[in-house]
Amino acid sequence: MAALWGGRFSGGPAEALQALNDSIGFDWRLAPYDIAASQAHARVLRRAGLLTEEECDTLVEALAVLGAEVASGDFAPRPGDEDVHTALERGLVEKLGDLGGKLRAGRSRNDQIATDLRLYARDAAKGLTADLVALVEALSAQAEGHLYDPAPGMTHLQHAQPITIGHQLLAHAQGFLRDLDRLRDWDKRAAVCPLGSGALSGSSLPLDPAAVAAELGFDSPAPNSVDAVADRDFAAELAFIGAQIGVHLSRLGEEVILWSSQEFGWVTLDDAFSTGSSIMPQKKNPDVAELARGKAGRLVGNLTSLLVTLKGLPFAYNKDLQEDKEPVFDTLDNLALLLPATTGMVATLRFNTERPAASAPTGFSLATEIADWLVRKGVPFRDAHEVAGSCVALCEKESLDLHELSDEQLEGVSGHLDGSVREVLTVEGALAGRTTPGSTGPEAVKAQLAQVKDRAAEFGGKSDLHRAPTGPGEDAAGRRISPTGPRTSQKRS
Ligand code: ARG
Repeated sequence: MAALWGGRFSGGPAEALQALNDSIGFDWRLAPYDIAASQAHARVLRRAGLLTEEECDTLVEALAVLGAEVASGDFAPRPGDEDVHTALERGLVEKLGDLGGKLRAGRSRNDQIATDLRLYARDAAKGLTADLVALVEALSAQAEGHLYDPAPGMTHLQHAQPITIGHQLLAHAQGFLRDLDRLRDWDKRAAVCPLGSGALSGSSLPLDPAAVAAELGFDSPAPNSVDAVADRDFAAELAFIGAQIGVHLSRLGEEVILWSSQEFGWVTLDDAFSTGSSIMPQKKNPDVAELARGKAGRLVGNLTSLLVTLKGLPFAYNKDLQEDKEPVFDTLDNLALLLPATTGMVATLRFNTERPAASAPTGFSLATEIADWLVRKGVPFRDAHEVAGSCVALCEKESLDLHELSDEQLEGVSGHLDGSVREVLTVEGALAGRTTPGSTGPEAVKAQLAQVKDRAAEFGGKSDLHRAPTGPGEDAAGRRISPTGPRTSQKRS
């Protein structure tokens, strides 16, 4: 048994305590980050004169080998390894004997775990960013193909005013762009390094927290050692961003579910992104969209559980904080499954444009055009609204559509009306008239599309989220220690 805290205890831990206390079952995925942090710590101990150059090199090299063995599966946790730190120290001591035990000087699992989780989260956020960019691009590509295709825009799920399909799709893209902003903004606060804070008070050894922070790609060392080991804002904030993404996905999912229903018939899902029924041979179900809607529940739940865990915790570290990891992992894992599937579903959607086009003008969705036409003639909107409403009432009584009202009928409703109002009573006219920035007219949507593409490109390519040379898969010198990052450990296959 290689526990890190045996000295003052007479007997071993009870099995029941061990089963409860061990976190190795879920924190093993942090191993590459723990190793990177250990390598940085070894260099700091060397500069502090607490390791010889040779000892430092030996440790760094052994950690690199251990990292490779972790990646290949040749080194794995075994019963009795309480957590990722315990297992890796065992591995190091197995290789180096006493020298392996020197690395623990000046640090605690409290600052280690806080550092590991930040490293992991910052890295995973890069994958999340790439997945979001792909979704925004899929939405943009679909929007581009439907800049001129009308659909009934809805409020209260009732026909309101005609819009274009492209505009509605870009409405979803806007939310995901804000999520990308959130991730970038979040990273600034996550880029603070707890290592060097020790258990809670810092260290009496001449460590160099700023150097460790820089080596691990953080912007700065933690300004307060108590806060550093107690703070999980970064985890809660990331869980919030994940929950917000989940809520956005759920709203997109709900629309795709509606659109693909027999009643709407606006879209056909690609076979590759729909499922069948075991009993009803005709069924084609929107499971991806339903999971996009359904997984929002657990994503919100993860945020809630984390916040409730943190509420009321006294400073500094408490074992409660071990409960921080699973909600964050679950959020990241599920989004890593959900986002690519949603992107595929969106990219392969086929719009049956004649259905939404045919229903765009129904439900008197052009009534506002009459009111706006009157406003342009100087009629106060309050009166114009009344007149347009009377036209709708007349149409309902006579079973007519607005554009079918005769000159006499129009003039009968109001002296301000005449037959020329019919010019605005077409969907095309209503759409083309909406030219102000952000509105649904094709020209305005083209401008919006260009902006959306630019914003997506801002986040694409070389991500600016993690400017560190040190990823989890590399040591500070850029040497590969593990081919597995969070994305490969996320059952991505
Ligand atoms: N497994 C622990 C966690 O996840 C590591 C820190 C343990 N610290 C301690 N003082 N027991 O929080």
